Formats: sequence, C-alpha cells, structure tokens
Amino acid sequence: MTKNFLYKMFTVTAATGLAVAAGCDSTKILKGAGGSAGGGHAGSTATAGTNGTAGAGAGGGAGGSGDTGGAGGAGGAGGAGGAPALTAVQARGQYIVDVVAACGDCHTPRGANGPIPGMYLAGNANFVVAGDQTLGSRNLTNDPTGLKNRTDAEIKNMFLNGMRPVAATGASEALNPIMPYYIFHNMTDADADAVVAYLRTVPGVSNTIPRRGMMFDVSAPAPAISDSVIPSPSPTYPQLANATRGRYLATKAGVCMECHTKHLDSMAVPAPTTVLDETKLFAGGEDFSALFATSLMIHPVSKNLTSDATTGLGNWTVADIVKALKMGVAKDGTGICPPMPVGPMGAFGHLTDEDATDIAHYLKSLPAVSNMVVDMCQFPPASGAGGAGGQGGAGGKSGTAGNSGTAGSTGSAGSAGTAGAGGAGGRSGVGGAGGA
Ligand code: HEC
Ligand code: HEC
Repeated sequence: MTKNFLYKMFTVTAATGLAVAAGCDSTKILKGAGGSAGGGHAGSTATAGTNGTAGAGAGGGAGGSGDTGGAGGAGGAGGAGGAPALTAVQARGQYIVDVVAACGDCHTPRGANGPIPGMYLAGNANFVVAGDQTLGSRNLTNDPTGLKNRTDAEIKNMFLNGMRPVAATGASEALNPIMPYYIFHNMTDADADAVVAYLRTVPGVSNTIPRRGMMFDVSAPAPAISDSVIPSPSPTYPQLANATRGRYLATKAGVCMECHTKHLDSMAVPAPTTVLDETKLFAGGEDFSALFATSLMIHPVSKNLTSDATTGLGNWTVADIVKALKMGVAKDGTGICPPMPVGPMGAFGHLTDEDATDIAHYLKSLPAVSNMVVDMCQFPPASGAGGAGGQGGAGGKSGTAGNSGTAGSTGSAGSAGTAGAGGAGGRSGVGGAGGA
C-alpha cells in the first residue's frame, strides 16, 4: 500500500477542475438551520476580486466563487452561526473535525462543486480505488449505516487506536492507516471527547460504505507516533508557549506532520514499522501527483516545513505562514496546490488567528532539516481557466501581492478565469498571487 492511493478524493475532485473547492463552507451548509453567515467566506472572496488591483478579470473569477458560496450561504452557518446552538464542548469538537483535523476532507464525498450537499461526513465509498478494490472512508453521521449504534468508547477506539468492532463476532479489526489514527492517538482526552460529542450532533445520512477490499486489510493497527519522536521546540525559542501549543495542533490534533513527512513504502521488504519516515518529520517530500495524473496537470509534493533556510521555511516569517494557511498564498505570492486545504474555502482558512500563529511558531521552532523538495506544482494550473480566474481575485484582496512584478502574469491569469466563467473558480479565488 503506497501513499499514492492516499487522498484519492482529491483525484475525483480535481477531475472536475475544482480542486478543494468549497471545502468547509459547503459542509457547514448542512449544519445550518437558518444561519445566514454561510456565504461569508465565499462572499469575501468575491469582494476581494472586486477590490483587487488585479483587474476586472480577477473580480470575475472570484465572483464565480462568490455565486457558489453565496448560494451555500442561504442555508448555511459559517463558523459560529447555525441554529442548533452547540455546547462549548460540541463546538470544540466541530472545530477539530472541520478545521484542525480536516476530517471532512476525507469523510465528506465530493462532486463537481466540492462537497456533495447533504452528504456531510457521510463517507466516500470510493475514497481510494485500486483496480477493482476500494477503500471507503466511513460514514460518521448519526445513522445506523454510520456511527449511530456505536458507543462513545467504540468511536474513540476507532479514530484514536485504529480498532473497529466487528458486530457479528464481538471482535475487533484494525483500520487501514490511511485513516490517520496513529496521529490522533496523541489527541487529548478532552478533545477526543469533544470530537465524539460533536459527531453525535451531525444529522444522520443513510450511506452504506462497503467493506474495504482485501488489499487494504491490515493485520494490526499502525503504531501511534511516540511523543518522544515528535520534534519539540527548543527551550530557548522566544515564543515557547506559542510553539508548544502549535506542536499539539500540528502533530496530534491535526495532520500537518502527516502530509509533510514522507511515508514509508508499506510494500517494502522488510516492511517498515512506522507509517511515516520518523527520521525526517516535517521535511516534506510526500508526492501527491499520482492523484492528479488523470485530471489537473499538477504535481504537488509536500514542502519542507523545517526552518532550513534554503530548502525549508527558514526565510518565512510567522506572518508568512499564517497567511499561507488562512489565505492560501505562499511567501512568493503564488497559490498553494491541493491537497493542502488552505485559504478561506479550505479547512485551515478557518483556523483562529491564535491557532494559526501558534502553528507558525511551532514550524519556526523546528530544527533545520535539509531536504530539497522540487516544486512541480503551480496553482491554479495553467490549463484550468476557471481556477486561474479565482487566483487573480485573491491577489486583489491581498493587495501587497498585487505590487510584485511576478504577480503581473498571474493577474492576467485572472482574466483567463473570467473567460472561464468562474466555473471552477470556486476555491481558487483564495489562491491569490495577485496581479498588478
Ligand atoms: C486522510 C483521510 C482521513 C482523515 C483526515 C480522517 N479519516 Fe477517518 N477514515 C478514513 C478512512 C479511509 C477510513 C476507513 C479505514 C478502513 O476501513 O480501514 C476511516 C475510518 C474512520 C472511522 C471508522 C468508522 C467505522 O465505522 O469503521 C472513524 C470513526 C473515523 N475514520 C473518524 C475520523 C475522524 C473523527 C477524523 C478527524 C479527527 C478522521 N476520521 C479523519 C480516512 C480519513
Ligand atoms: C493533505 C495534505 C496536507 C496537509 C494536511 C497539510 N499540507 Fe501543507 N502542503 C501540502 C502540499 C502538497 C504542499 C505543496 C503545495 C504546492 O506545491 O503548491 C503544501 C504546502 C505548504 C506550505 C507552503 C510551503 C512552501 O514552501 O511553499 C506551507 C507553509 C504548509 N504547507 C504548511 C502546512 C501546515 C502548517 C499544515 C497543518 C496546519 C499543513 N501544511 C497541512 C500538503 C498538506
């Protein structure tokens, strides 16, 4: 089992040219019952386009996303909104599920316009497809085909320890580690309980996920990552408290480390004993390009997030990292490729400023590891007209990006997006490299 099968849903998504469109917003539509803030994020994207210096083309591209998001907004509850008020514990769980851990990026099936309405967390039977075998992500909703009949302890044992009860026998079976339980294992008990409390509020959706194909069976759960191998900030790091909080979010409750570390080849002989190359945590190099081979011509490889000056984020400021997460714009003003769920339409766009800052401090505190990652990814891809339009839009919003010389050509990509009528412009509005 290689990581090439991972994040298969992005292949499906990308095949539509939409990348990670409408990630969180659409999922929240389902939760809303009268809230009105749902269109907020997409709406702000459209605004960015209008205000942008990237020109009318940019505004047009982002406008496409605005229309999409706006429609969602009607029923939605962006962030804090939403009719059935959640308790503080449930809201914490929602934040972990929708933002920090991005559970929905795998557990909510996607269609041409992003997450499929009415299917929030209902599982994707074709999450991974390999020949005639599939590995579905599972239905986490309150339906008998989901988690309704599981006890709290059973649910926690699945997402924290990778053990699933088998109804017929009373025994348990191991989950495939494409489900990152070996990361979530280190989540605090309070957060794990909050996740369960929130999942109990998710409306039931009947969606039977077939048992995974035999090739995805594993004889035992992948061992949890030991706290002792997860890099800790140096005690002399100036903002030590921030970095320590960021460590928790980036490596235990969230999945930065999972994507930004090369996965070992589980088919190797002898078989590796860990999922990740624990000698190069955060050094990047995990290749996601197989996911997009038949769709978008992009070749995303996760970047080195350590503080190495030449191959990592050594020259990035905390603000640069926060901007990447929340706006989807890299330090050089270019967009960031999926599957990294960034920007206002992606999971990380909803991180609180404090959490995004803490995560950034943690990355800045990481010891340098030299590992050159060859960037073969351009987002939005040149061939995606609609996506390009969105890109220009975000440039407008960021303003500063608009001033840069290189942004000029991206700005014209914005025009291309207008020509593309925005269609796929959805999420990309956020990518924002901006045109002058
Ligand atoms: C990278 C993709 C991915 C992410 C992120 C992810 N999951 Fe999963 N999850 C899966 C897959 C795939 C399976 C099915 C594994 C199997 O059948 O062996 C699964 C299975 C599960 C199961 C078992 C359900 C059952 O009835 O068998 C639970 C519970 C679960 N995930 C909860 C979560 C929660 C909660 C989060 C976020 C905190 C999360 N998952 C994040 C991919 C993911
Ligand atoms: C689903 C996989 C995935 C997850 C989860 C993920 N990333 Fe990424 N990330 C990527 C990929 C792939 C790229 C490269 C994208 C590109 O080339 O445009 C990237 C790029 C980045 C960049 C830009 C670096 C550069 O040099 O341009 C930063 C910063 C970053 N990620 C930080 C994070 C942080 C912080 C988290 C957790 C909050 C995180 N990532 C979670 C896959 C992921």
